[in-house]
Amino acid sequence: MQVAESRRVSLDTGWVRAQFPALGAAASISPQRIFLDAPGGTQVPESVVSAMRTYLVESNSNTDGAYELSRRTDALIAEARRYGGAFVGGDPDGIAFGQNMTTLNFNLVRAVGRTLSPGDEILTTALDHEGNVSPWLLMAEDRGLVVREVGLTEQLDVDLEDLRAKLGDRTRVVAFCLASNAVGTVTRAREIADLAHAAGALAWGDAVAYAPHRRIEVGALGLDVVLCSPYKFFGPHLGMAWIRPELAATLPAERVRPAAEVPVGHRFETGTLSHEAIAGFVAAVDYLASLGSGNDLTAKLRVAYDAIQRHESGLAGAVGAGIAGIAGVHSVGLPGDSADRVPTFGLVCERATPRRLAEALSDEGIYVWDGNFYAKRVVETLGLDLDEGLLRIGLAHYNTSEEIGRLLEALERVVRATANPTGR
Ligand SMILES: Cc1ncc(COP(=O)(O)O)c(C=O)c1O
Repeated sequence: MQVAESRRVSLDTGWVRAQFPALGAAASISPQRIFLDAPGGTQVPESVVSAMRTYLVESNSNTDGAYELSRRTDALIAEARRYGGAFVGGDPDGIAFGQNMTTLNFNLVRAVGRTLSPGDEILTTALDHEGNVSPWLLMAEDRGLVVREVGLTEQLDVDLEDLRAKLGDRTRVVAFCLASNAVGTVTRAREIADLAHAAGALAWGDAVAYAPHRRIEVGALGLDVVLCSPYKFFGPHLGMAWIRPELAATLPAERVRPAAEVPVGHRFETGTLSHEAIAGFVAAVDYLASLGSGNDLTAKLRVAYDAIQRHESGLAGAVGAGIAGIAGVHSVGLPGDSADRVPTFGLVCERATPRRLAEALSDEGIYVWDGNFYAKRVVETLGLDLDEGLLRIGLAHYNTSEEIGRLLEALERVVRATANPTGR
């Protein structure tokens, strides 16, 4: 991309980390804490905290009222839609905010379900978080639809051959993730969307695990719907969807009768939103944009994501190489230096449960996650126990190579200790 190339910037991780109060606090605790739990939720910059506080102090109100605070709230939501549009590269009218991705998706799926007929088919994938699977299964049960699952390649990517084989003239939706929250695969979204469209189906993307690492461009990716969660990209607990406006206008949304019909994204916003979280979302996007440069939000975000991706790929390469050198543990899926991954690693431990290793790492101040992360079918496909799952190491752009060095040393030590608990 020309603009991004000509405005290439590098991340100043010292400056980045200074924006996050939680990282400063974590550094002053002994042993120093390292957050490697980004796919579960990221830390937030001070500007996000401050925007939420400012909203609550200066503008706290419901919408569409006659007085100043309500007008400010209306303006904030309109601004947030503009930010949401820039964030996903789509028409701001298609933005809908909600409690979280899962709740928004249940609403959207139910709306689509009302347009489908018994025997229509939905394709989901074995790579997806349940937030983009369970809503389809439940809706299909209610409406007599068929849900078929697309399997995975050996490297834990969506198997496009299987997708081609399962697409048919009854397929109405292909629901898939842009990146895996368990093992980090970045899927071939454009190809999946093109295959869906060629079959006359909607391309329904879950970008929750993608948005902290890569820029969403709904046009280039060919998506009809995309969902993400600002709390995974340095904002507060909130969900956001973009629905192609022509589609959003026609779906029979479940809503109260007097609610406004415009902008079309609002049709899927039920009840009063978390306005303070929406203020935090705007600040989170501003924070991301501040990592880039350019004339407008879109240009800045492109440059920022380019810098984030380059920083994270360096770290991911080091994590992959380091894990490969530790006996008794291995990472599943794509290699660490693959260009087709985000820096999220799923580890299988031969002699200890993921929980035991996560606890041992926590004792060293290193915060990682363990379990199935609601990526139920990934864990089952790997033949692992669903409750035990994987040990997950998930980086964000605020992590540093020093932290990765400490992680690898600690991981080697705890794996050795659990393999040989007597220390002999
Ligand atoms: C890939 C993916 N999709 C969906 C979700 C659900 O997001 P939310 O917590 O906003 O409902 C998650 C949460 O971890 C996720 O990682």
